[in-house]
Amino acid sequence: MSIQKAIIFDLDGVIVDTAKYHYLAWKKIANDLGFDFSEEDNEKLKGVSRVQSLEFLLSLGNVTLSQTEKEKLLKDKNDHYLSLIAHMDESELLPGISILLKKLQGHKIPFALGSASKNARLILDALHLTDHFSAIVDGNEVAKAKPDPEVFLVAAQKLNFSPENCIVVEDAQAGIEAANSVGMISVGIGKSEVLGEAAYLLSSTEELTFEFLIKI
Ligand code: BG6
Ligand code: MG
Repeated sequence: MSIQKAIIFDLDGVIVDTAKYHYLAWKKIANDLGFDFSEEDNEKLKGVSRVQSLEFLLSLGNVTLSQTEKEKLLKDKNDHYLSLIAHMDESELLPGISILLKKLQGHKIPFALGSASKNARLILDALHLTDHFSAIVDGNEVAKAKPDPEVFLVAAQKLNFSPENCIVVEDAQAGIEAANSVGMISVGIGKSEVLGEAAYLLSSTEELTFEFLIKI
């Protein structure tokens, strides 16, 4: 890195393997409402807030509900999700992440969390990672969900870095769109069919090494 850069990490599907639990919890809601929900459909929900995810799910199943019914489903989804992650520990960290964070800290490269999740702090606490981040911005702090860039802009502000000097690591289409829209350097973790707009694309966090990041 010639000019000092900062890294903004998404949480679910980048730091920790929770994307599969979000999917399972939404799938149960869809199945209970009487329709199926594929992994392919789920790509559209990644990175998206809980409320917007429900709206997407309901439109997929052609289901119309009252506000009270929606609120019940949001609670049911989150209760189920929390039960799925109740025993989460460091073993759920994605490959290479632990070493990467240690190396970034060792080289004094600042990094922040930029997540849509309202459960982000609870998860970071369970992973004993909370104190390692220079800044944490989660779904409780922002009004607009990805693909709006608000979460990343607030993270950049807290780190005191300009957007173009921030590298965003994301597994969601909405997250890559958000980063690109404000000139941040986007690194996608996943498939090109979904994350084709990313400036750099890696197939897994195993490839997200310190050496890779300093080359950017
Ligand atoms: C994102 C996930 O990180 O957080 C989405 O990719 C999820 O799947 C969103 O819906 C909101 O998370 P939570 O924990 O507040 O329901
Ligand atoms: Mg994610």
